[in-house]
Amino acid sequence: MPVAYVDMCGIVGYVGGQDATEVIVEGLRRLEYRGYDSAGVAVIASDGVQSRKRAGKLANLEKALAESPLPETTVGIGHTRWATHGAPNDVNAHPHLSEDGRLAVIHNGIIENFAELRDQLSSGGVRFLSETDTEVAAHLLAVELRDSADLTEAMQRTCQQLRGAFTLVAASADDPDTLVGARRNSPLVVGLGEGETFLASDVSAFIAHTRSAMELGQDQVITITRDGVEITDFEGGPAKGEQFEVTWDASAAEKGGYDLFMLKEIAEQPKAVADTLLGRISEDNQLVLDGLTISDAELREIDKIVVAACGTAYHAGLVAKYAIEHWTRIPVEVELASEFRYRDPILNRQTLVVAISQSGETMDTLMAVRHAREQGSRVLSICNTQGSTIPRESDAALYTYAGPEIAVASTKAFLTQLVATQLFGMYLAQVRGNFFGDEIRGLVSDLASMPNKIDLVLDTMDPVRELARGLKDARSVLFLGRHVGYPVALEGALKLKELAYMHAEGFPAGELKHGPIALIEDGLPVICVMPSPKGRSVLHEKMISNLQEIRARGAFTIVIAEEGDEGVVPYANEIITVPAVPTLMQPLVTTVPLQVFACELATAKGHDVDQPRNLAKSVTVE
Ligand code: M6R
Repeated sequence: MPVAYVDMCGIVGYVGGQDATEVIVEGLRRLEYRGYDSAGVAVIASDGVQSRKRAGKLANLEKALAESPLPETTVGIGHTRWATHGAPNDVNAHPHLSEDGRLAVIHNGIIENFAELRDQLSSGGVRFLSETDTEVAAHLLAVELRDSADLTEAMQRTCQQLRGAFTLVAASADDPDTLVGARRNSPLVVGLGEGETFLASDVSAFIAHTRSAMELGQDQVITITRDGVEITDFEGGPAKGEQFEVTWDASAAEKGGYDLFMLKEIAEQPKAVADTLLGRISEDNQLVLDGLTISDAELREIDKIVVAACGTAYHAGLVAKYAIEHWTRIPVEVELASEFRYRDPILNRQTLVVAISQSGETMDTLMAVRHAREQGSRVLSICNTQGSTIPRESDAALYTYAGPEIAVASTKAFLTQLVATQLFGMYLAQVRGNFFGDEIRGLVSDLASMPNKIDLVLDTMDPVRELARGLKDARSVLFLGRHVGYPVALEGALKLKELAYMHAEGFPAGELKHGPIALIEDGLPVICVMPSPKGRSVLHEKMISNLQEIRARGAFTIVIAEEGDEGVVPYANEIITVPAVPTLMQPLVTTVPLQVFACELATAKGHDVDQPRNLAKSVTVE
């Protein structure tokens, strides 16, 4: 039985005046975060298509290219792959070639009817070399090209026969100045340079060359030459892309002197938060959410909010629930996007679905968006990536301005998601009259002070790093929190799992006594996110009780507490202090030490922090 391969990969195509291999490998380097199971490149040379591909990280391909360089040409395609099934080996790496070797194809997504098409092509005599679904597209395209002799038309006909999610880019030796791409349910953006044109999974691949970009719509085919593009639908009818300017530059996608992207991205958090606030707070401290294309009248009609997101973005949604419900009194449900549409959720026109996604391409979240809209709900997406699918398919989008997040572990995007959801919650309260003007002004100025507070946290991280190094051989770490500290505990545990490959769990501290306390044993590190002690808070007192319970059972307690919180001293083996901020904004400061902790511990274990095993940055399969 053939093995199904699933890709959520990085794609680059180039037609221009520079050496194609160089431009493509540079683009792949910026896209490697999308998948690093194998990489490959193909160029159109005078004697046909030539390619190199290697299993493993891009460095393996670079070595192969150094040993056996490709001819210098100006047209080519490249791919970096993430596979979920089967061995990621040289043969299954992209590009895949037609039998005559004159056509090369790269692909991102899943061709759902690949087995059927493969049988059909095999019975027609086609010999398959790999186990991938992509090779089906390469052979099918070759068959169609024989019939039509036009690469664009052949691509249109091929796409009409494919089911599932796919971005395809093809290069043909018979059409050496052109590339043809197509997309359905999978990303493809165009870079429009001076005498050069790019196709890529996201803009970071070509940002060093041009900031002028175009997003393609669903079910479109694009033909690029060095001077321009032509777009059609799958039937060959005329179609249009949407042009936009990328707001960040190439240096934002570089390590900028840091050893790791993750370190750089942690350090960028004050700026990311400030940028996300920029232009959204008027001089008299009122909220202005330009681009929110849901009218105030519609916002007044909403009687329920459902947040749908995955992973870290889901944790941002959990924090948002506390803030939005508190400020607006509208009930907020938070759903893992992968579960959402399978449980027949109750949705209608009065329900606002808020989809949170850094990449804007997460398939689970996209499917939740589509389901919500089919049920008549309005969808607002909170997203960090211009030109991506989720905001394009939503009724309105609120962008975060974290800049490119390259490390697989999300950090600065999370903090900006917290800010964006809070801005939205405040705006909703403003529109619905839940707030008096001075209340808004107070909250807004609290938010505006957060970049400074985050800066203060970053300045005091040395003891956290030392602590992390000391715990590198721990078998397990627990994280406890209450109220907004609970999602922070979940986020701390997720960071440790994905980077240090270590057992880590986040619990609501009050739930411990209902089971998880049995996990506590002598010396077990437990990180506790303390609520503020201000006003003799009940939550703070309860958390102190939980600390006592675990200390009594031998836990090694690491407490993240507000500066001046003397109450925790008797129960903490280690204290990490953070500045005092309003309760609902605490996750903006308490998450930072947990990011630093996971990053340092994983580094001490010798792990690849930016590209942890088995993961990819955007998960474009369900
Ligand atoms: O791009 P998205 O925000 O939709 O991604 C969602 C998750 O896949 C992502 O947050 C993931 O959990 C991160 N690797 C966590 O660090």
